[in-house]
Amino acid sequence: MTSRTLLVTVSCALSVLLGALLSKPSQGPSRPKDSPVRIGLSLDTLKEERWQRDRDTFTAKARALGAEVVVLSANSDDLQQIKDCQSLLGQAIDVLVIAPHNGEAMSKAVVAAHESGVPVLAYDRLIRNCDLDLYCTFDNVKVGELQGRFLTERLFPEGPRAGGPKKRIARIYGAPTDNNAKLFKQGQDNALRPFLENGQLEVVFEDWAEDWKPANGKRIAQAALSKAGAQKPDAILASNDGTAGGAIQALREEGLAGKILVTGQDADLDACRRILSGEQTMTVYKPLPKLANAAAEAAFHLGKRKPLIARGATDNGFKPVPTQEVDIVAVEKSNLQETVIKDGFHKASDLQAQP
Ligand code: BGC
Repeated sequence: MTSRTLLVTVSCALSVLLGALLSKPSQGPSRPKDSPVRIGLSLDTLKEERWQRDRDTFTAKARALGAEVVVLSANSDDLQQIKDCQSLLGQAIDVLVIAPHNGEAMSKAVVAAHESGVPVLAYDRLIRNCDLDLYCTFDNVKVGELQGRFLTERLFPEGPRAGGPKKRIARIYGAPTDNNAKLFKQGQDNALRPFLENGQLEVVFEDWAEDWKPANGKRIAQAALSKAGAQKPDAILASNDGTAGGAIQALREEGLAGKILVTGQDADLDACRRILSGEQTMTVYKPLPKLANAAAEAAFHLGKRKPLIARGATDNGFKPVPTQEVDIVAVEKSNLQETVIKDGFHKASDLQAQP
């Protein structure tokens, strides 16, 4: 079974699971019986714009529901994130929500939470090989497919054709510790495959950007440009807006910004500005408020030990984890208005303004 979300109904599995959680005694510090639900939110990082928005929306929604939220951010450090979860578990939380830096390492936090009778929701990034209770995310394979398909449609408007035009790309993958990065690559591979197999597309350089740092995106783009020599790549398939920003800095330094297609993801404000100016070609808009609101509601229900219905399941190597998914859309200059701006994700005036 792949980790891609399976469209199976898991409401029964989830009721069984919640039954198990309900029977576990909470070993954390006790609080008065009718005290509000307390949610612990452990974030990998707050360095990127998106995670600040995730935090703010999640917290606002949870508070509107009457919950208390305690937030900690681990600054891309696995040990720190484990400590953060332990600290949250020591603050009598009813539910733990984790956006993991490392999807493998954080299985320890899930075990610790369950030992305290606290259910765990993985926020946007899967936690692997553990008895995770709920996973709220986007279709991450589809994110990669949208990025890859966007490029192939631009590079090969006539579709795959043996003997047809040849193009060259560089690929910047995400953090190797992030399960999502692998799913994005999987989706990109799906879209690129016919063109790679018939020899129309050549990958001149590829690498993983540790911790998703823009500086690593820049370094990979520079390596790609120097390896490609005089015959510059036609596109840079960057997996998110942060690494796309780094790659575009490298292109600027070579006088190539706006001349090479660049993908991204997150619809960050800077990325949308670059799309308007023509330096970045596309991004994938993931309506974060929808995810954060849905996750806050789900966490509130888990905290109250109320039954939840999830329509999908994702194999995390241990079990099919009940999964809630939010839809996504590819954004370029021509549909910025009807997507990102119409949704109020960014204001038109902010997009026009210089950073
Ligand atoms: C998220 C992206 C984000 C990246 C870096 C991934 O797990 O899906 O939206 O850009 O992490 O934070």
